[in-house]
Amino acid sequence: MTIIREVHKWIGLLLGLQLLLWMFSGLGMAILPHAKVAGDHHRVDSEPGLLLAEVTEQIAPPLSGSASDVRRVELRLLSDRAVFQVDTGGGAYLLDAASGSPIAIDESGARQIAARDYSGDAGISTVRHLEHPTLEIRDHAGPAWQVNFSDPERTSLYVSAETGDILERRNNYWRTFDTLWMLHIMDYSNRSNFNNPLVILSALILFWLGLSGLVLWWDSFHREDFRAIVSRLTGKKPVLLSVASPSGDLLKTVRTPGHQTLYAALEAEGYALPSSCGGGGSCGLCKIKTSPDSPATAADRRQIPEADLDRGVRLACQHRLSSDVSVTLPDGLLDARRLDGEVVSSRRLTPDMFEIRIALPAPLGFRSGSYIEVEIPPYSTDLDQINLPDSVKSLWRTSGTGERIQSARPLVRTYSLANAPGETGSEVTLIVRLVLAGPEHAGAPVGLGSAYMTSRRPGDTLSLRGPLGDFHVGEHEEERVFIGGGAGIAPLRSMIRDQLLNKGSTSRMWLWYGARTPEALAYREEFEQLATDFDNFSWQAALSHLEPHQEWEGHKGWIHEIFRDNFLATHPDPGRCSFYVCGPPPMLEAVLNLLRGAGIREEKIAFDDFGI
Ligand SMILES: Cc1cc2nc3c(=O)[nH]c(=O)nc-3n(C[C@H](O)[C@H](O)[C@H](O)COP(=O)(O)OP(=O)(O)OC[C@H]3O[C@@H](n4cnc5c(N)ncnc54)[C@H](O)[C@@H]3O)c2cc1C
Ligand code: FES
Repeated sequence: MTIIREVHKWIGLLLGLQLLLWMFSGLGMAILPHAKVAGDHHRVDSEPGLLLAEVTEQIAPPLSGSASDVRRVELRLLSDRAVFQVDTGGGAYLLDAASGSPIAIDESGARQIAARDYSGDAGISTVRHLEHPTLEIRDHAGPAWQVNFSDPERTSLYVSAETGDILERRNNYWRTFDTLWMLHIMDYSNRSNFNNPLVILSALILFWLGLSGLVLWWDSFHREDFRAIVSRLTGKKPVLLSVASPSGDLLKTVRTPGHQTLYAALEAEGYALPSSCGGGGSCGLCKIKTSPDSPATAADRRQIPEADLDRGVRLACQHRLSSDVSVTLPDGLLDARRLDGEVVSSRRLTPDMFEIRIALPAPLGFRSGSYIEVEIPPYSTDLDQINLPDSVKSLWRTSGTGERIQSARPLVRTYSLANAPGETGSEVTLIVRLVLAGPEHAGAPVGLGSAYMTSRRPGDTLSLRGPLGDFHVGEHEEERVFIGGGAGIAPLRSMIRDQLLNKGSTSRMWLWYGARTPEALAYREEFEQLATDFDNFSWQAALSHLEPHQEWEGHKGWIHEIFRDNFLATHPDPGRCSFYVCGPPPMLEAVLNLLRGAGIREEKIAFDDFGI
């Protein structure tokens, strides 16, 4: 279904553009004044040329002189002069009716014929002889004269060089119409074939889009949706909401209006679940536990691992109250507090990652791996206000953001705590990566929350809520493997420091850390030092985009592949280790696939998905 959705989306975009072209070209053709398109407004109203006689084939030879292929001979008037028009298989020619001598339509003849046909005020500007028909007289054969008038519409009359007939009257109205016609029928060469391969292909793709749209439409419905409609129709009947703490203690049972989302109902009861997508089902932060029978929505299935879905974990923003429901709150929610912090320092760790230290009014009791919510108020700031190297500035400039970034509405963003609990008193450390789309998505805007955070200066205040989250190290003493990249190093650093410095853990611990270049590795010296100080800790880094001039003696390549070849493939019993994974979505997905593919049980794997 994901593939169909992706293909549908992109093909829909392409075909959507063509549909717009069809619509606008059709509209344009309908709006253009047809008399002007046909050139009738500058045409002299005259009686059609008088046909004096039509001569049959039997008497044609004497007139034509070359009897064999004469098809038709016509006696008619050409500019008040009686002429025979002789049509043959290879074209037509004129003979003077009185003398029988051939008449050639030369430039002055063409000028005269065109001038007699043209009723406008403008004079003739240029005359051009055309040996072969151009696009403007594509339906005719034989040589012609193009007589151009100096009116604003750039009228051109085409006079047949064989018969003196006016073949076509063209002007800018017609040319616009003809361009729209070309776009409409998608015949970009001859502009005449409605059944060309492009139109046929587009029709087939549209047919596929229709079918896949039906499939996606059907897939987007769930029993929940219909229940919501029924509940709405039945006047939002109140339902009973039972709320339990993470340990299972019943906190309260309340009667609450039906139809609203579980998220809104819990918020109204004072349990504000974390969210950074405003209930859009895309951040995956508002997880609660409810009955496993509650049907999972498409967003649930996207954000929640299968094993958790089976346990009844759901996104509260995606479920509407249609009947009585019991929910268990996520770990840490009841301990989360709102706090005002003050930025103590902000320093750049890597080209795009900043370490921001924040002083809080009192120590924040938290478990390593937790995160906090930061309120991002409406703001604007200049690119120059952020301490970035030139390489990142140029990347910023390829984005759709421009030199100044601004956010008109308040946002909430979540950042993991990167220090170990208690190690810095009432200060907490965040690692914030400035989110730039990168060359592969050039044009996408710079991340609003991360630009705000990375532009903070000492003394700035921040409104926070935390600690939150359930990405924690298990209490059991077993071999622990941390795998991360990018800003994902933040919770892993907190966990590793907590285990080594606070808890004095003697379990074997590994850090597998992926980055693009040596400069993108944060806390390199610190991890070296920890590995020197603690025999049970080792770390391995792998660089995926090493440039020829950069010195590096460690692993080269993607961290998941290095981890696979140097740990999973060589470890005697990886199933006995516990794994903690955090990093960019592709890395996260690759590592999780590896672990699951290697038969590691779900309860041995913990991860945090930052979504960036
Ligand atoms: C539990 C958790 C912990 C986290 N911890 C950390 C952490 O420790 N450090 C850290 O740096 N981050 C962390 N994050 C991520 C962080 O919360 C933000 O998601 C991140 O900073 C990006 O937010 P933003 O406002 O800068 O980007 P957004 O403005 O939300 O944009 C995100 C992406 O979407 C793209 N985008 C936005 N709008 C459009 C559009 N209209 N068209 C096309 N593309 C668009 C942007 O280009 C960007 O690539 C964490 C996330 C979670 C869920
Ligand atoms: S609030 Fe973001 S997924 Fe529910």
